[in-house]
Amino acid sequence: MRLFIAIDLPEDLKQALGRLRVDIHGAHWVPVEQIHLTLAFLGEVEESVVECLAEPLMRIQVAGFKLNFSGFGCFPSRHRPRVLWIGVEPRACLHDLAAKVREAVLACGIPQEDRPFSPHITLARLKFPDNRESDAFLNQPQTPNLGPFVVKEFTLFQSRLMPQGAVHLPVKSFPLAPAGVLA
Ligand code: 2AM
Repeated sequence: MRLFIAIDLPEDLKQALGRLRVDIHGAHWVPVEQIHLTLAFLGEVEESVVECLAEPLMRIQVAGFKLNFSGFGCFPSRHRPRVLWIGVEPRACLHDLAAKVREAVLACGIPQEDRPFSPHITLARLKFPDNRESDAFLNQPQTPNLGPFVVKEFTLFQSRLMPQGAVHLPVKSFPLAPAGVLA
């Protein structure tokens, strides 16, 4: 099964992010209900990995925290954009959570990329990287009217590849500690 671990977003926020779409030829916009912030990607793994992950993920000690958005960007470069995203402020608590999640994944024998965690929420993947078109997205006002959101949990998702595209199914969610509880 194909797995990844992510922060799911509140429904109203997903709807608001869905309204940032602009007209780009060949863009595949992430379906609104699937918008998420990836913490770790596991890829295709044995089903037994789900069981192995449960305990180390449950043991992660990070307090809930607020996240703010930080403007738009793309991968790999503005000149040849392939992935359009909205950035998330790189707060220490988010990096700490991602590092602990990746440690848990590694502990189950699933290799993780060496690339540093770069917090973003993918909104579109482009078939034809044309910077003139994507600039309309990237040059939107840098402070879209999106409030901060409170992260209270993270979720292990299964991604099922279907003929009409991937379908994401939550497998298990892991609550963060209430803010202020951890030293
Ligand atoms: P992204 O948000 O950074 O694009 C579910 O497929 C999530 O896993 C995607 O949203 C994507 O994160 C991430 N993902 C998919 N394929 C990947 C790959 N080959 N390497 C790293 N991350 C991947």
